[in-house]
Amino acid sequence: MKNAARTTIVVSTVIIVISAILFSNALGQRPSRPGAGRQGDSQLEKPTVPKDDNEKKILGVLENILRNQSYRNVPPQDGRFLRIMAESMNAKNVVEIGTSTGYSGIWFGMALQKTGGKLTTYEIDAQRAATARANFKKAGMAGVITLVEGDAHEEVKKLKDSIDILFLDADKEGYIDYLNKLLPLVRPGGLVIAHNINPGMADPKYMEAITTNPSLETIVRSGISVTLKKR
Ligand SMILES: C[S@@+](CC[C@H](N)C(=O)[O-])C[C@H]1O[C@@H](n2cnc3c(N)ncnc32)[C@H](O)[C@@H]1O
Repeated sequence: MKNAARTTIVVSTVIIVISAILFSNALGQRPSRPGAGRQGDSQLEKPTVPKDDNEKKILGVLENILRNQSYRNVPPQDGRFLRIMAESMNAKNVVEIGTSTGYSGIWFGMALQKTGGKLTTYEIDAQRAATARANFKKAGMAGVITLVEGDAHEEVKKLKDSIDILFLDADKEGYIDYLNKLLPLVRPGGLVIAHNINPGMADPKYMEAITTNPSLETIVRSGISVTLKKR
């Protein structure tokens, strides 16, 4: 074999191997199943241990969504994070923009069943809204979660109550509009949490708004921004 051909084969093989490693790492950082491909700190975690039959049932519904009805849902570790936030701050009113098939909504619902709170979640796609509604019912959350079908940019204008957590997970270029419309309702000490806050995905206008306002304190970790509305 000529030297040039051998060099081409070696270089191609190296590129393929590096691409495979990077791709598998990328998948591992955002596992779609509990316990799958954990990287970094998450390696130290274990899947949620259900406290009772109700929690076990809810975890079963969540598992089924990821296996059979997944559509751009947050990964399990992010769902668990949302539940921990809501339950620990005794949230009474959570607003979610972007329901999809109901995965993150059910994590919130798990917390809100305990705090006596409610979630209002918005979805523009009729089919995903129907799937989410069925999942909320299966998880026993019909009384905790209200799904509003329609364009959230319009529908949120009807909100009046004080918000403990605003979770943004819909059209990324719309985050700034949701923030402008709903930040006045977020209570002092409340949170605005946004998903897909990665270089290249995060809207610069949204980032500017949450990182330069002296009334807000924002951190970004693992693709999630957490913004505190200071007291
Ligand atoms: C990333 S998915 C939400 C995932 C969901 N939070 C979860 O983790 O299960 C984004 C969803 O936002 C919805 N969406 C996009 N623009 C919207 C809008 N203007 N109003 C309401 N929903 C919208 C999409 O149809 C899609 O289902």
